[in-house]
Amino acid sequence: MKRSVIYPGSFDPLTNGHVNIIERAAKCFDKVIIGVAKNSSKNSILSSSERVKILKKVFKNKNKIFVDQFEGLLVDYANKKKIFTVLRGMRTVQDFEYELQMATSNNKLNKKVETIFMVADGNYSHISSSLIKDIIRLGGDASKFIPKIVEKELKKKLLEKG
Ligand code: PNS
Repeated sequence: MKRSVIYPGSFDPLTNGHVNIIERAAKCFDKVIIGVAKNSSKNSILSSSERVKILKKVFKNKNKIFVDQFEGLLVDYANKKKIFTVLRGMRTVQDFEYELQMATSNNKLNKKVETIFMVADGNYSHISSSLIKDIIRLGGDASKFIPKIVEKELKKKLLEKG
């Protein structure tokens, strides 16, 4: 039986921490579906289609990793895909509360949906998309924390904005 997992997130932007989790997940599962949530928060730096485009570029040569986007509830997306295992990364104890709420709520919404966690590699546990957004918006250098492709796209986007 093929083992598949959904790795959902905002990926605004994709960080090296996400990449690490995704690559490790591809060693544990036959198929990793990256589910980009189509949320339109005012605080977003990239649109969901830009995020999908970037993720597709980053993982284009990885045959077990697929990029998709979803709108609405994660449990509905899981049901549509017939994949009921959800993977989330856990960085620090601060993540725990939110992840616990989300995993429990998703399981209450659909009993079939189970969330599993992968502990972040110590090299990446300090990285978060919101921190990177701040660094970028304030003109700092976030290149250590994000893939080259993401850096290039973000620079392009900032130039467009002027
Ligand atoms: O990368 P993030 O922002 O921590 O990811 C959060 C995400 C997108 C996985 C979560 O907000 C989500 O699942 N959104 C879809 C809407 C939904 O199902 N909300 C209820 C979660 S209990």
